[in-house]
Amino acid sequence: MDRIRIRGGRPLSGEIGIGGAKNAALPVMAAAMLTDERLLLSNVPRLADIQTMGLLLAQHGLAVEPVGNDGRTLSLGGTITNTEAPYDIVRKMRASALVLGPLLARTGEARVSMPGGCSIGARPIDLHLKGLEQMGATFRLDGGYIDGRVTGRLRGATIVFPFVSVGATENLLMAASLADGRTVLANAAREPEIGDLARCLNAMGARIEGIDSDRLTVEGVACLHGASHAIIADRIETGTYACAAAITGGEVMLNNARLDHLGATIRILREAGVEIDERPGGLRVRRLNGLHGADVMTEPYPGFPTDMQAQFMALMAVSDGAAMVTETIFENRFMHVSELNRMGARINVHGASAIVRGVSALSGAPVMATDLRASVSLIVAGLAARGETVVNRVYHLDRGYEALEQKLAACGADIERLSG
Ligand code: UD1
Repeated sequence: MDRIRIRGGRPLSGEIGIGGAKNAALPVMAAAMLTDERLLLSNVPRLADIQTMGLLLAQHGLAVEPVGNDGRTLSLGGTITNTEAPYDIVRKMRASALVLGPLLARTGEARVSMPGGCSIGARPIDLHLKGLEQMGATFRLDGGYIDGRVTGRLRGATIVFPFVSVGATENLLMAASLADGRTVLANAAREPEIGDLARCLNAMGARIEGIDSDRLTVEGVACLHGASHAIIADRIETGTYACAAAITGGEVMLNNARLDHLGATIRILREAGVEIDERPGGLRVRRLNGLHGADVMTEPYPGFPTDMQAQFMALMAVSDGAAMVTETIFENRFMHVSELNRMGARINVHGASAIVRGVSALSGAPVMATDLRASVSLIVAGLAARGETVVNRVYHLDRGYEALEQKLAACGADIERLSG
């Protein structure tokens, strides 16, 4: 299994190109199932999760093909010939559950392996199922699979989410686009990735209003058509490299990054002493002085993203104060804490909060993590640590960060991938 070795202590300096958002590309790819015509997607990041979604869609009968040579443009199209999402794919990537809504809307049936627990908590999909039930679908559990059926078309409904769910909002938005009548999604998630999906659906002929708000109104249409769509920049990749630049006391230009999707992240980074300016073509991040402790609580968008919590904690580990980091979205999303502590951090977890007492320096160590963002937080920490850090289980990073070590090495980091 590959590992990444970092020798810390070099300030990052240079430019990093920010890719398309994984969490936007995945649902938009699933939306290709809503039409037989061709969906042409550009700015798709080259990531393991994108490949997994491509495999899943191919297994449902779609042709998923790269266009051109950059590997970032995909053509998706074709008829659904198989309505089963198998265990072997769903267990690798929970976002596979996003095919449920499109399958039911197009074929009236879906058999999707029940996503299990994962390292950041139980992550059920009950809200997806309840919403689809309100639209006329019925479900039963059979051999670890959710068997869904609907007679005729899904029907428009008013769905009030009891709490905010990104995946459930996306699944129901796709289902509602082809439903009979009007659907209202209230207390919907407002993440920019949902806006991206909604804009792509509208380009395919859907009639969605209220985009970027917590109330989406969808007038169902009988069929959708092909379209071209460019995926938005990845705000989490942007925030991650901003933390990397900041922890090393460096200065980096993040090309293609978007300020408007990063409000809470930028506010908290500035509070911590990081300079962030909008420049033509992206964002410039630099840190000249010390880092201050800044408290943060994860919340649905526009709040501070749970997907930035681990990286921000690594930064706070070397601040000149203390910070309280509270996780409200996922239980059990502090696996990085014990590993950061092995690198010399002083972090204590009390329930859903972690108290981070800054230390003057971290020291390199062999570490590993069991999810994507926890893994990258160890990379961020390693960039500033004294000596050598080896991050194991790199496949988590490959799910969400394209060319991570190349991008960091180009800015002067001493980082390399060790094979085997
Ligand atoms: C998406 C993102 C993930 C991010 C998360 C929160 C993708 C592919 N993944 O995940 O990177 O961390 O949003 O911003 O876009 N829940 C239920 N029942 C449900 C659905 C969710 O109880 O039916 C709970 C979850 O366990 C969690 C919370 O709701 O505690 C939020 O989950 P959700 O917003 O649905 O996250 P995902 O869509 O899985």
